[in-house]
Amino acid sequence: MKIILMGGPGAGKGTQASPLIERFSIPHISTGDMFRAAIKNGTELGLKAKSFMDAGGLVPDEVTIGIVAERLAMPDCKAGFLLDGFPRTLAQGDALGQILDGLGMKLDGVINIEVDEAVLIPRLTGRRVCRKCGASYHMIFNKPEKEGVCGQCGGELYQRSDDTIETAKNRLNVYNQQTEPLIAFYEKQGLLKRINGDQTIDLVLADILKALD
Ligand code: AP5
Ligand code: MG
Ligand code: ZN
Repeated sequence: MKIILMGGPGAGKGTQASPLIERFSIPHISTGDMFRAAIKNGTELGLKAKSFMDAGGLVPDEVTIGIVAERLAMPDCKAGFLLDGFPRTLAQGDALGQILDGLGMKLDGVINIEVDEAVLIPRLTGRRVCRKCGASYHMIFNKPEKEGVCGQCGGELYQRSDDTIETAKNRLNVYNQQTEPLIAFYEKQGLLKRINGDQTIDLVLADILKALD
């Protein structure tokens, strides 16, 4: 299964990615997670990405496309992959098409998780993420059993530095201007599957699985 998960910031891409990669036994390729890991490890990539992420803007295309091209060429992607948060610009969409052509691969579908803006902001500001395994929780909508502790691995939960209200609003603007055009891009290719993301996490997953069937 070769799929893209699209949707605005806080739409539920990371949340839905976990059960999907398990179900299809495919790697989870999240450019946001890759950048956060690079920042944590103090690598050159992290240095390049940090200022853009802190402001809620996009990391330049040439940087982002390069790391995805490298990742998709790894052997574990042969049988499939789930892209989360990439592509995010039309230039990235074009580049992905070329990368996949070069690898002799075709996408099975592009899942667009649709949620109103008014719902997205509180999802972001109330989110807590596991430092160890990356699982997403929410202070109100998806509480961990024990406060501050990941139910899956026991790791410590923290708040992402770009989940402040100001940065969240910037991310939404950037999404509307630069990422939304990709919806029409994939609709034209007959790959787009629209999913109502404003339902419980389980119902969203059920709709995604139906759409991929
Ligand atoms: P990235 O990490 O991709 O952030 P994002 O796109 O803003 O998306 P999020 O991770 O914030 O949201 P999500 O959809 O994964 O939501 P989640 O499942 O956690 O990117 C971060 C930054 O990196 C970017 O701003 C940019 O700077 C850079 N970057 C990354 N990729 C790039 C690219 N391709 N090009 C350039 N720059 C790039 O859920 C959110 C919350 O809601 C959680 O608390 C969750 O528990 C809760 N929730 C989930 N589903 C539901 C539900 N159904 N009902 C109620 N609550 C729910
Ligand atoms: Mg995410
Ligand atoms: Zn964890």
